[in-house]
Amino acid sequence: MNNKPIYIIEHLEPELFEWCLIEYEHISQIIGKDYLWFTNIKNPEDKKRLEKFGSVFTKSARKMDFKGACVLDPEASKTLEPKEVKSFNYLIFGGILGDYPPKKRTQEELTPFIDNCEVRNIGKEQMSTDNAVFCVKQIELGKKFEELKFVEGVSIEINEFESVDLPYRYNLIKGKPLISKKIQLYLKKKKGF
Ligand SMILES: C[S@@+](CC[C@H](N)C(=O)[O-])C[C@H]1O[C@@H](n2cnc3c(N)ncnc32)[C@H](O)[C@@H]1O
Repeated sequence: MNNKPIYIIEHLEPELFEWCLIEYEHISQIIGKDYLWFTNIKNPEDKKRLEKFGSVFTKSARKMDFKGACVLDPEASKTLEPKEVKSFNYLIFGGILGDYPPKKRTQEELTPFIDNCEVRNIGKEQMSTDNAVFCVKQIELGKKFEELKFVEGVSIEINEFESVDLPYRYNLIKGKPLISKKIQLYLKKKKGF
């Protein structure tokens, strides 16, 4: 099998919302197209849109047989460690938009349906899928979870008077939260309508 794990995003939203697409593109920039799968993509148009970013499967990961899979679930009892990441062939994430307070959708809709998998958290706080992927990539590269830096919640300035609060945990890189430029533009555009 690979010496590098495949990152799998099991799309669990009813549509490929623009926000999901922006996050998935960001994930592709973080992981690289060759190590990224999108599963449970039922709509052929969505398949075409995602093929630029990774391999796309109509089939759900919940119906695939994996050897050496780990599901990333905030409700897991154990935290992912660098020494174990290389033993996993597949790291599976929920393609789920954040909700506040969290609805534990990973635990309900993903984890119970992946047979023979390990389940790990990267802390108990909810991260966006792209931030969760970035955090796991850092652990794959050898960083311990405790060494990583985060910020709880970010506020995106829309204009002089308004801002949007995103109540999730973000990775801090050189003191700045990891949030894609496209998400910031999307929020500004949406507010402008
Ligand atoms: C926005 S989160 C989903 C949050 C959803 N409210 C829930 O509670 O499952 C999207 C995905 O990122 C991953 N994720 C986010 N935060 C995580 C954490 N603290 N530990 C493990 N995985 C996490 C999971 O795979 C999750 O399905």
